[in-house]
Amino acid sequence: MDFRTQSSSLDALSGVNADARVLVLAGEALPEGLDAAVAAAAKDAIKLGDFELKTGKTVVLPRVAGLKAPRLVLAAAGKPSLKSARAAVQAALAALKSGGTAHAALAFAGFESLSESLVEQTVLAALEVSYVYRHTKPSAPAAPKLAKLSLLLGKDDAKAAKAGLARGQAIGAGIELAREAANRPPNYATPTFLAEQVKALGKSHGLKVEVLDQKAVEKLGMGSFLAVAKGSTEPLRFIVARYEGAAKTVAPVVLVGKGITFDSGGISLKPGAGMDEMKFDMGGAASVLGTLRAVAELKPKLNLVAIIAACENMPAGNAVKPGDVVTSMSGQTIEILNTDAEGRLILCDALSYAERFKPAVVVDVATLTGACVIALGGVRSGMYASDDELAGALLAAGDAALDPCWRMPLDDEYEEGLKSNFADVANVAGREGGSITAAKFLQRFASKYRWAHLDIAGTAWKSGGAKGGTGRPVGLLTHFLLSQVR
Ligand code: BES
Ligand code: MN
Ligand code: ZN
Repeated sequence: MDFRTQSSSLDALSGVNADARVLVLAGEALPEGLDAAVAAAAKDAIKLGDFELKTGKTVVLPRVAGLKAPRLVLAAAGKPSLKSARAAVQAALAALKSGGTAHAALAFAGFESLSESLVEQTVLAALEVSYVYRHTKPSAPAAPKLAKLSLLLGKDDAKAAKAGLARGQAIGAGIELAREAANRPPNYATPTFLAEQVKALGKSHGLKVEVLDQKAVEKLGMGSFLAVAKGSTEPLRFIVARYEGAAKTVAPVVLVGKGITFDSGGISLKPGAGMDEMKFDMGGAASVLGTLRAVAELKPKLNLVAIIAACENMPAGNAVKPGDVVTSMSGQTIEILNTDAEGRLILCDALSYAERFKPAVVVDVATLTGACVIALGGVRSGMYASDDELAGALLAAGDAALDPCWRMPLDDEYEEGLKSNFADVANVAGREGGSITAAKFLQRFASKYRWAHLDIAGTAWKSGGAKGGTGRPVGLLTHFLLSQVR
């Protein structure tokens, strides 16, 4: 999608040359100062009952008298907020998607001023509307004709627009990369594929990329990661990419992504219904990949290390069994009581590996527990943090990116159930507080640095008719990283 800006005042909107003029209206009354042709058309549509100034209402009006563009789209945001504006833009562009519009010109009315975030979200809405998965579906509909979006700016909006466009396009590209990787079927999106994706990104964006194979992982003593991978004939990959945007002396932020490219449950096999969705169990890895791309494009002054632990979790004659005890890279032994709690088993070794970077902070991202889906649904990701400042930064980043999270507790009492008679720790506790006990397990391996954990099991993909990766939490993570620039 091609994004442009064009200066224009609200009272000169009729002269804008495009296939469609989109006006996003906030408030309960038509704003003052609208162009006469637009105001007359809007009033008429309201009078006819075809449009209301209420959140979510949209109307497409063809051939409005006095308007240069052949279509006028009105989209109501209701109360002016970033969220309502984003929803209105998305509804308006969705209304144009299957039609003949190639170039839409969009303006806001009733909002205080055009903020960086409003522009960013406009870009993200446009990219969301135009995304089509087609890699393994030749019959997928053609890409929407809509390929160009002009933002109409007032005289004071230029600076915010420029920064917002850059951020929106970078995050949008990251989200698209993450969605595409997540949507790929598991016979395509293998650990090797993830490694190739990171390598390709490294090449195009000048990142240092290192890919470790089984032998190298054995040498590091990652007995826990190896235990998960060993039941699969698909080789594991441990992927490390570095973005260097600040001096070598600046401690990096480390992101760690769970890259289970298919989670069958292993010997603790999952039920068959919906098992296909466990191809999305690399959603954490996909979001780390996408965030890496966004950062590599925005080039902030920080250092970032992206780590992806990738393998399949499969049942086999040589698969890890319930009751097996393995030795993690940290030296702690783990009794694997349930092979379906595999995410924490690969992450714990990645968290130990992260120590070598002397990180300022480590954030792991994982589709870790069904319990988190029960707790928070698909609206907010679960967030755990070892300190309040870090938790605050992640909360704020999520809100600013419209990719929200919610802080969950880490009281030591939650660790009780992880006791084992045969190892230092068990990989599962009871059913209660399942997202929290998983986080407590991880925390044991993250004691050497500031640490946060995002459980994205509910937010990384959608089920049902809209089944597909969401690209979350690329927005949250990118905003968080930008907030860490000192
Ligand atoms: N990948 C799943 C978590 C998951 C389940 C995400 C459903 C989204 C939807 C993870 O590996 C898993 O299987 N977790 C188990 C843990 C349990 C065995 C303690 C779970 O949540 O059931
Ligand atoms: Mn599992
Ligand atoms: Zn899993």
